[in-house]
Amino acid sequence: MQIEQHSFLVTGGASGLGESVVRAIVAQGGKVVIADLNESTGQALVDELGDNVRFVRFVRCDVTSGDEVQAAVELAEKEFGGLQGSINCAGIAVVQKLLDRENNPADLEAFSRGVNINLVGSFNVARLVAASIAKRVANIDNTESANEKNADNGIIINTASIAAFDGQVGQASYSSSKAGVVGLTLPLARELARHGIRVMTIAPGVFATPMMQTIPEKAREQLEAGVPYPKRLGNPNEFAKLVTHIIDNAYLNGEVIRLDGAIRMV
Ligand SMILES: NC(=O)c1ccc[n+]([C@@H]2O[C@H](COP(=O)([O-])OP(=O)(O)OC[C@H]3O[C@@H](n4cnc5c(N)ncnc54)[C@H](O)[C@@H]3O)[C@@H](O)[C@H]2O)c1
Repeated sequence: MQIEQHSFLVTGGASGLGESVVRAIVAQGGKVVIADLNESTGQALVDELGDNVRFVRFVRCDVTSGDEVQAAVELAEKEFGGLQGSINCAGIAVVQKLLDRENNPADLEAFSRGVNINLVGSFNVARLVAASIAKRVANIDNTESANEKNADNGIIINTASIAAFDGQVGQASYSSSKAGVVGLTLPLARELARHGIRVMTIAPGVFATPMMQTIPEKAREQLEAGVPYPKRLGNPNEFAKLVTHIIDNAYLNGEVIRLDGAIRMV
């Protein structure tokens, strides 16, 4: 699917990997609704994109809310005449051990918050974006299934993490939520095939984003040393390049791609 003239919902688009995706799509002539909790950084990005402002909108949106994601989808339908896909980058990292130093049990609410935003949020966005695309396509042509025509009507890209496979101590919430995102990929791709909608997941390694700036410098250096090649953190624009390739390459479907410089967490 070409990016130019098409429109995409980018959740978490106000920061880090999502922000990089917004910039890449707009640079290629695509249109974006940025759906994020952070109004100040989201609006600042829209303002900064200046000349391209007619192609970008920001909406404050919590990916766990059905009403708020539906409002973001409807904004894209109204402003851009419909959606061709979503790139779901909204996510949080919850760090807590099952037992603390005194062997007290973990906080259940913190565990659930990570699963709710990372996994349930991904499903929520996928279901509402897929419904929008499927209805638009059915209105255009309901005589022949999209699958038979190889129409490439839509693309849903979710963001997992290598923690889905190589989870560390303290990452129970994060790893299990991201493993859930991996698990969404094939069943959704199989189900949406008849609408000509592809579903892909990217599992990033360690990228230089605001999420990573919360870790101490020493830990960051250790992470960089653990990447076989290239020996550095990933650049968010390398994530965005993979996203734009996935959108463009119609034969990529139902798969999870690690983007990690060959790092394997032990
Ligand atoms: N940075 C990394 O090294 C790395 C590695 C693997 C996976 N990831 C995943 O990539 C995604 C993006 O991470 P990042 O590093 O760019 O993080 P980031 O913190 O820079 O950006 C995340 C964005 O998501 C938004 N957000 C958080 N909760 C939200 C919610 N409920 N609804 C809507 N928006 C919400 C935040 O406001 C923020 O703008 C996350 O899912 C993260 O788990 C990141």
